[in-house]
Amino acid sequence: MKISVSVKLSLAVALVALFIGCENTSDPKYNPPADHTINQSGYMHKSGLNQPLTNCVSCHGADLKGGSTGVSCFECHGTKW
Ligand code: HEC
Ligand code: HEC
Repeated sequence: MKISVSVKLSLAVALVALFIGCENTSDPKYNPPADHTINQSGYMHKSGLNQPLTNCVSCHGADLKGGSTGVSCFECHGTKW
């Protein structure tokens, strides 16, 4: 009886570990607002991403280096804008 309890326990631990592990790999690094609907390889971008100097500067900063969000475009992209 003791054995089966510990088997159940370790199963539960393994399941929890698996769950947390999956969450970590599928969760993006940041917690973007719901209007960031364009998925680019798992990172959510706001629509209009091809004109960032028009559409993104209000939050990500005039230089796109983070602004009020603290998320710089250039941490993932080269300095292309
Ligand atoms: C109204 C404010 C606002 C605007 C405008 C905005 N963003 Fe964001 N963005 C945020 C916030 C807030 C976060 C999350 C910051 C955090 O989690 O620390 C974020 C996060 C992100 C992330 C990281 C997402 C991830 O999954 O890791 C990307 C990429 C991004 N924004 C792209 C864009 C692009 C591209 C534009 C312009 C087309 C844009 N954002 C315009 C507020 C904005
Ligand atoms: C946390 C990482 C991350 C951040 C921050 C981020 N991006 Fe991206 N972005 C990606 C990935 C990954 C892709 C898809 C692969 C690629 O094309 O480089 C992508 C693709 C794009 C694309 C389409 C493909 C291309 O390269 O033209 C645009 C445009 C873009 N991002 C703009 C932005 C802008 C503007 C910001 C800042 C507001 C930003 N990204 C911030 C990760 C990020």
